[in-house]
Amino acid sequence: MKILVTGGAGFIGSHIVDGLLAAGHEVAVIDDLSSGTRDNLPPAVPLHVVDIVDGRAVRAAFDRERPQVVCHQAAQMSVSRSVREPLFDAQVNCIGLINVLDAAVATGCRRFVFASSGGVFYGDVTTPAPETAPANPVSPYGITKWVGERYLGFYAREHGLTGVALRYSNVYGPRQNPHGEAGVVAIFSKKLLAGEPATINGDGRYVRDYVFGADVAAANIAALTHDLPGVAAGTLTSLNIGTGIGTDVNELEAVVRAEVTRILGSRGRTEALPLPIHGPARPGDLRSNLVSADRAAEVLGWRPAMTFADGVARTVEWFADRGPVTA
Ligand SMILES: NC(=O)c1ccc[n+]([C@@H]2O[C@H](COP(=O)([O-])OP(=O)(O)OC[C@H]3O[C@@H](n4cnc5c(N)ncnc54)[C@H](O)[C@@H]3O)[C@@H](O)[C@H]2O)c1
Repeated sequence: MKILVTGGAGFIGSHIVDGLLAAGHEVAVIDDLSSGTRDNLPPAVPLHVVDIVDGRAVRAAFDRERPQVVCHQAAQMSVSRSVREPLFDAQVNCIGLINVLDAAVATGCRRFVFASSGGVFYGDVTTPAPETAPANPVSPYGITKWVGERYLGFYAREHGLTGVALRYSNVYGPRQNPHGEAGVVAIFSKKLLAGEPATINGDGRYVRDYVFGADVAAANIAALTHDLPGVAAGTLTSLNIGTGIGTDVNELEAVVRAEVTRILGSRGRTEALPLPIHGPARPGDLRSNLVSADRAAEVLGWRPAMTFADGVARTVEWFADRGPVTA
């Protein structure tokens, strides 16, 4: 099958590309490389360096590639930038999405998988939220993900597409950008590998549901390529993708620090790592956010395979192999 992945040079998108290629599919990528990089992609994968806000350029890439299925990962994904620049957020996440949907429909795509977000949908929840929990997006980023699902629902009904929205919880793993705001595992890994303390916002008692990037890729591959029981053309199906297991930032820092200590020790560095420092709380940060992925298990046959401890070990190793770890 020929599959076009927008945002395929990014963290999650590139894991999806790897999984699709391993399963024998043909893949093309649209990415403006604003946060992604060519290095995340195998050299043979065609990459169209295109901003999805540019509808003509998006259409030209689709005309060239003629995919049967689309996986839409490209997005403005900073909550704080969406608060500062709601217009930019809406341009990329709404206009950009509509450009991709229009090009998909015009070139005969049959299925469209959209990267949505459970983290911004459900607000403060202390037990894993099912898809039926009321949407409560508070940031412009959350609002555009919510609107994005509504647009996908409209295009599915109007054009007979099979629409699947995957609402990820907090995704982490190798290739995540350590300079953003979302990737706390990546940020702490980088800091501690450099021998610097992690900075924890406020009291650190902020609980999140961390899911491994390659597991999220596996959910996308099932949604893109499998027969999906109960999912009909012309409909939108929204599915949570997470573990349902909560970890707070204090626990997370301790797991990352233990893993960094182990890896540095194995490479000849045995000094004690600095303890975390606590910075100010981030205004508006949710205390707790968890999703239930029971429905994804039924529809996609998907369950997360990676434990948090093993996922952190893989992530720290990946950063250690690229960062300055001197003996
Ligand atoms: N990482 C998470 O925890 C998380 C959680 C929920 C949802 N998501 C969603 O998953 C998707 C992938 O996120 P990620 O974590 O891999 O981030 P990422 O920044 O690594 O990937 C996004 C990719 O999209 C590209 N891109 C951004 N704007 C573009 C534009 N205007 N035109 C073309 N390409 C553009 C970037 O260059 C990048 O390669 C996003 O839609 C994001 O909103 C991520």
